[in-house]
Amino acid sequence: MTFPERFSDLPEYAFPRLRKLLSASRPGSEVINMTIGEPRHAMPGFVAEVLAENIDGFAKYPPNEGTPELRGAICDWVSRRYGVALDPETQVMALNGTREGLFGAAIALCAEEKRGQKPAILVPNPFYQVYAVAALTAGADPVFVPATAETGFLPDYAALAPDLLDRVAIAYICSPSNPQGAVADRAYWTRLLELAEKHDFRIFADECYSEIYRSAPPVGALQVARETGADPERVVIFHSLSKRSNLPGLRSGFVAGGPACLARIRQLRAYAGAPLPLPLQRVAEQAWADEAHVAASLAIYQQKFQLADEIFGGVPEYAGPEGGFFLWLPVADGEAAAIRAFEATGVRVLPGAYLGRETLGGNPGAGYVRVAMVAEMDELRRGLTRLRDCLYE
Ligand SMILES: Cc1ncc(COP(=O)(O)O)c(C=O)c1O
Repeated sequence: MTFPERFSDLPEYAFPRLRKLLSASRPGSEVINMTIGEPRHAMPGFVAEVLAENIDGFAKYPPNEGTPELRGAICDWVSRRYGVALDPETQVMALNGTREGLFGAAIALCAEEKRGQKPAILVPNPFYQVYAVAALTAGADPVFVPATAETGFLPDYAALAPDLLDRVAIAYICSPSNPQGAVADRAYWTRLLELAEKHDFRIFADECYSEIYRSAPPVGALQVARETGADPERVVIFHSLSKRSNLPGLRSGFVAGGPACLARIRQLRAYAGAPLPLPLQRVAEQAWADEAHVAASLAIYQQKFQLADEIFGGVPEYAGPEGGFFLWLPVADGEAAAIRAFEATGVRVLPGAYLGRETLGGNPGAGYVRVAMVAEMDELRRGLTRLRDCLYE
């Protein structure tokens, strides 16, 4: 019996790897888990009611692409949020969480060859891990591009060699980014769209943290594409209710973009995807239509940004996130810091190297730990204060 070789270089997933790292250690105090990005603010109040009202829907196979009502609610949200009018019939599709969409869309849209060569897929380094697996599955070379303090924590794709760029089929970009919390501004998107046009590739914009930001709502990739008159087929956006609405267990998101891209994504998903159960589509429809719960959650995150700035303000090289809910804290060695923090204080954080890949310049996550600011305020304050005292005093 043989197994595929294409995944043989995949490192173990970050969380089991962390469990192993800490398996011989004992917590120095009450355990506070700040590793996983699982939102813990209140979910919208209407979830149970909408679910109960639509419970009969579990007796039916759900529509693969999403109900017309859900697609309508998503398009209304995109229009309110970004000023972009999408056709619910052809430009949007419901997802069972963004992660599967980020994976499936690469398989649906990455051609077997690009200009007669094996295609390449650009991945910011460090990154949300599904991008690399998607590239391997699609038969492309994942190319890990540093997103470090020197590049404003976003990848500088334009600095890559032109012949490599000519091989690129897809460029993943995450804004606000996980793990660094960097936000791509209008100028960044405009340059990336120009690069995509010049070298004929698509941009996969993972915007699932778009509703968690410090001051102004981040601009979106489709928004800038529309403003600059770029070809909408160049951009595919991915959004989620996991972070926006504190519903990670609902497994609900969407993908949107040009009709040609969406037709292919929909077709592949009709064969192989798992549609979101109907009662959950009804909940998702309500969630996209409501902003009150989003505003309430955002206000708490904004207090958390302030709290983090107060606690870590004196740390050299500390840069508070512009968006998302992670702190990306500079340390000498992320693994050593994670062990020290756990043994001295009980706080669990993720070594940054587990989110990055070793390239010629080393692993750009190695000198960081990632800290999820998802706990309620008192626990967060205790955890962050202990981390500062342990890692920086
Ligand atoms: C950057 C990023 N993209 C996508 C996802 C997937 O979100 P979901 O599948 O819950 O919609 C996550 C979840 O942590 C993430 O951090």
